[in-house]
Amino acid sequence: MSAGGFTFRSRTPIAWSYHRATARWQFNMGSATSPPVVVGREHGALPWTPLPPPAPFLGGLQEAIQERLSCRAFTPEPLSLAELAALLRFGYGVEQRSGPSMQDRPAPSGGGLYPLELTVLVRAVEGLEPGVHHYVPAANGLERMREGKLPPELLTYLFMGQPWVAEAAVTLVISFAGERSLTKYVDRGYRYALLEAGHVMQNVNLVAVALGLGSVNLGGFFDDELAGLLRIDPEKEVCLYGCALGRPAPESGRMALRDLGRAR
Ligand SMILES: Cc1cc2nc3c(=O)[nH]c(=O)nc-3n(C[C@H](O)[C@H](O)[C@H](O)COP(=O)(O)O)c2cc1C
Repeated sequence: MSAGGFTFRSRTPIAWSYHRATARWQFNMGSATSPPVVVGREHGALPWTPLPPPAPFLGGLQEAIQERLSCRAFTPEPLSLAELAALLRFGYGVEQRSGPSMQDRPAPSGGGLYPLELTVLVRAVEGLEPGVHHYVPAANGLERMREGKLPPELLTYLFMGQPWVAEAAVTLVISFAGERSLTKYVDRGYRYALLEAGHVMQNVNLVAVALGLGSVNLGGFFDDELAGLLRIDPEKEVCLYGCALGRPAPESGRMALRDLGRAR
């Protein structure tokens, strides 16, 4: 028991129970058999937008790490499709294939199973219909799940009243298709999914800085309503993490990388 009487176990028994129930010890090791790699849950017959070569970065990795901050005010300007391509490809794309069962990707994944999916809620991207687009990493393109402008009130509501989500040019949502890795790792695999979403989102955050864009990560949303917008079955796939992205407005208190370059 800690000095204030707080323990992880007593204050948050559900989180503690999950962690303990998925702790490894010598006699509870499951089978280590790997299921076959599933590339994604692409539909295959939806309207398709191939992604162009990614937009070039304005600065290097060190600068991107040093300049990263959350941004909660965006201008109405659209992103270019090449900027969106860079965010997706360097976030969770497929760079090349090492062989039939392995993929080379910019984020690590337990067992190389890549159980995450990326969906983009598009307000303003040049050359892309507003709506909901699902990223297909292996084919480096987007399939359109829903078309039409997403009402700002709906976006703000889904993300629990956060107004910057409706102002962002795009909001990225990372979801977890459980079956793809839980077959191997069983309940412990959910820990890995959360860790992997963090890897992907850090890539996205740093790429955003390198492109002169602002981003804010979003843990606050209504799970089932968001899953409905994405057209995913919440019994199979769950939303883990969001990120609103756009051009930073001056009042956001942060400068885009290109302006920093000029100011120096
Ligand atoms: C898991 C996670 C969830 C977050 N959820 C939200 C959110 O829903 N809304 C928001 O405005 N910021 C959110 N943030 C951003 C944090 O508030 C922010 O990173 C923190 O205040 C530190 O500020 P900085 O990112 O500018 O360094 C989240 C960050 C993380 C890591």
